Amino acid sequence: MSGEKQDELNARGELEHPHRFASDYHAPVLCKTVVNELITSANGIYVDATLGGAGHAAAILEALDSKGRVIGIDRDDDALSEAESRLAEEIASGRFVPKKGNFECVAAILQAIDISEIDGLFLDLGVSSHQLDVPERGFSHRFNAPLDMRMNTGDALSAASIVNEWDEREITILLKKFGEEPRSRRIAKNIVANRPLSTTKELADLVRQSVPGSQTSKALSRTFQAIRMAVNGELDALERVLESSSELLRLGGRVVVISYHSLEDRRVKRYFRSGNFQGYVQRDIYGKKISPWREVTKKPIIPDEAEIAGNPRARSARLRVAERISEHASER
Ligand SMILES: C[S@@+](CC[C@H](N)C(=O)[O-])C[C@H]1O[C@@H](n2cnc3c(N)ncnc32)[C@H](O)[C@@H]1O
Repeated sequence: MSGEKQDELNARGELEHPHRFASDYHAPVLCKTVVNELITSANGIYVDATLGGAGHAAAILEALDSKGRVIGIDRDDDALSEAESRLAEEIASGRFVPKKGNFECVAAILQAIDISEIDGLFLDLGVSSHQLDVPERGFSHRFNAPLDMRMNTGDALSAASIVNEWDEREITILLKKFGEEPRSRRIAKNIVANRPLSTTKELADLVRQSVPGSQTSKALSRTFQAIRMAVNGELDALERVLESSSELLRLGGRVVVISYHSLEDRRVKRYFRSGNFQGYVQRDIYGKKISPWREVTKKPIIPDEAEIAGNPRARSARLRVAERISEHASER
C-alpha cells in the first residue's frame, strides 16, 4: 500500500481494530497485516483466492484506490453468495469480481477474464467459521450431521465415501499423513469394522472409543482435519496455487498466506525460502540463491493476544509473505 494511503487509514484508526471486518459469517485474521503486506500499488489487481465471508477482501478493497481491483475466488457457493451481497456496490462499480472455482486453477480462472498478470495473491487457508458452524456441512465433530465435508458440494468425493469405501490401510495412512494421528491404525480398524457410517456422530463416537482419555479431543480434531483435507485435496491445491503464483505475479508483487497447521505452513515456508516444496536451496556459481522469491517474513507473523481473545480461531494462524523477484535472489 502507498505510504500515504496507509498513513491516512492508520490515522483514522481504521486498519487497527482487529475485528472491524468481522461478520457473522467469519472473522478475518490478521486483517491489518494482510493489507499492509499485500498491497504494493493502490491501483493494482489483487486476488483473494479464499474469499469466505469477504472480510479480507473488504479490507483490501478499502485500502485500494478507485482503480484498484480484487478478484475473489472460492469453491463454496455459500461463500460466493455471502461475498456477493456484502460487496454488491463494489461489484457494480467493477472493483470486485467474484468467481467460483478451485484456487489450484487460478491461472485459468484469471485467463477467462483476460487477466494474465497480478499485483498480489492472498490465501487464507482452511475452512471458514461458517463452514464449521453450519451442522449440515459435516465439518465439525461438535454436531450430528451427514458425513460430508465438501467445500464444493458439487464434488464427487465426500467424507462418507472415504470412511465407507477406502480400505483400512489407506485410512491409516490418511490419518497419519494429514492428521499426524498417533493412533491412526486403531481408529482406521474401528472405522472399517463398524461400516457403514453415515453421520459425524457415528465417526466421533468411534474415535472416542478408539482413543479414550486425555487424548480424545486431539484425536477427534486430527481425524476430522485429516478426512477434510483428503476430501478437498487441500495440500495438492496449495502446492498448485503457489506454483502458479510465480507465473502470475509481476516483479515486486507479493503472495501472502495464512496457514492454520504445520503441514500447510511447512510447505509455504519451504516454497518461499527455496522455490520448491522440498526446501532445497539452489545456488548459482557465485553462491547466489536461485529462486523467484524473496522471503519477506523469515519468521511467521502471528496474531497478538488481543486478537486471539476476541477470536480464538486465530490462535493457530501463521502468516508468511514472499515477493516476486527475478530468478536470482540477492541473498547469499
Ligand atoms: C478461512 S476461510 C477464508 C475467510 C476469508 N478470508 C474471510 O475474510 O472471510 C477459507 C475459504 O477458502 C475456501 N477454500 C479453501 N480451499 C479452497 C480452494 N482450493 N479453492 C477455492 N476456495 C477454497 C473455503 O471454501 C473457505 O471459504
